[in-house]
Amino acid sequence: METMKLDLSKAFAKAGGFISPEVFNTYKKPTEELNKALHAKTGRGSDYVGWVNLPNEIDEAFLSDVEATAKAINDKNIEVYVVVGIGGSYLGSKAVIDSLSDNFAHLKGNKPAVLFAGQNISEDYLAEMQDLLKTKEWAMCVISKSGTTTEPALAFRLLKHELETKYGKEEAVSRICAVTDKSKGALRILANEEGYKTYVIPDDVGGRYSVLTPVGLVPIAVAGFDIRALVKGAKDMAKATAADVKFEDNLACQYAAARHALYTEGKKIEILVNYQPKLHFMAEWWKQLYGESEGKDSKGIFPAAVDFSSDLHSMGQYIQEGERTLFETVISVAKPEREVLIPTDEANLDSLNFLAGKNVDFVNKMAELGTQIAHVDGDVPNIRIEIARLDAYNVGQLIQFFEKACGISGYLINVNPFDQPGVEAYKKNMFALLEKPGFEAETAMLKGRIS
Ligand code: PA5
Repeated sequence: METMKLDLSKAFAKAGGFISPEVFNTYKKPTEELNKALHAKTGRGSDYVGWVNLPNEIDEAFLSDVEATAKAINDKNIEVYVVVGIGGSYLGSKAVIDSLSDNFAHLKGNKPAVLFAGQNISEDYLAEMQDLLKTKEWAMCVISKSGTTTEPALAFRLLKHELETKYGKEEAVSRICAVTDKSKGALRILANEEGYKTYVIPDDVGGRYSVLTPVGLVPIAVAGFDIRALVKGAKDMAKATAADVKFEDNLACQYAAARHALYTEGKKIEILVNYQPKLHFMAEWWKQLYGESEGKDSKGIFPAAVDFSSDLHSMGQYIQEGERTLFETVISVAKPEREVLIPTDEANLDSLNFLAGKNVDFVNKMAELGTQIAHVDGDVPNIRIEIARLDAYNVGQLIQFFEKACGISGYLINVNPFDQPGVEAYKKNMFALLEKPGFEAETAMLKGRIS
């Protein structure tokens, strides 16, 4: 097993500044206990810890079924696969597909291009997508655990109409897959009535922990990626971070302990850093996972993200010299999938001949090391995660690692990491402003406030 590495040495680096190994070790027992509570389902929100053992429960029949669905869709020679969903019903598959795709997949004509809808309410976005879909062979997957979320419901209503207009009702049905609750919600009712192929989101897995359920696996399989390798990576990480794995060997407990210790020392913002543009959406997924799990009861680290070296030329200034409330967690990929050697140039006007014959990744790695030293010198503690390669197996490990550490982290600050009561506030106001039936009192109250 190629195991992910976790380097905390630069989180402890500065005497009197960052956390000491003694403080870190005080979290040994609590994190081990909280990890056990996740497995034993004795902690807060324990109705939603189905993801803890999920990789071990995924069986051959399920994987074969998802692969058969992906093949049937691709046998229609689709050019575009539209995935309709928001939040946890969107970010996991987007993160994995982007991590594994060619950076220029769309322009190279790789099929199918996986596009997303229902993750915003932009009229221009939907109109431009409708224009595009009129010219393409396409199919779609609609994903909503509740089956009632406004953004995807609105997009699905429009795109379903578009699909039926293009292909006729019967063929449209064969091009739609619905992933939703086993019995509840408007999407389940519609899917049963229309006869769509459906997959069930387990009751005990919340949206942001659902990437290894059909929510993530169906779009990832249709995109052509190896869901077996992804699940194997997650399974190996589940074993490496299991309840009986002691703190010294348990990377999820160690990461949770380090970030909690830094938080307690006033480091209220964690910046997830990548040096591979393909990881941009992995950071978006991570932001949802940690932000929605921990940001409640007036507590929680604020999760932010940057793409380096691009953002070293923008946010780099703040990180180096702004408020000292930050720490960084870097995801480093040990070996790129492709090789580009730097050529010699006769004129050498850019003075880069000293790098001739070296790999571009060598420069990237020196940028990473130089940045780490500079930021640690600037009082920004640094946690470093290294994965061997950016492939399905290693991405699977990363997902299970972050999920496990998030559950433990949430328990360390004594919140329920599996609910999201705060996201209801905007919905209530939006429905009131839209004058949705049933919200009359809220409509009157809000109109009074804004008139
Ligand atoms: O993590 C969560 O639970 C949320 O982000 C949801 O995934 C998101 O609100 C979408 O919900 P649903 O799948 O019910 O449409």
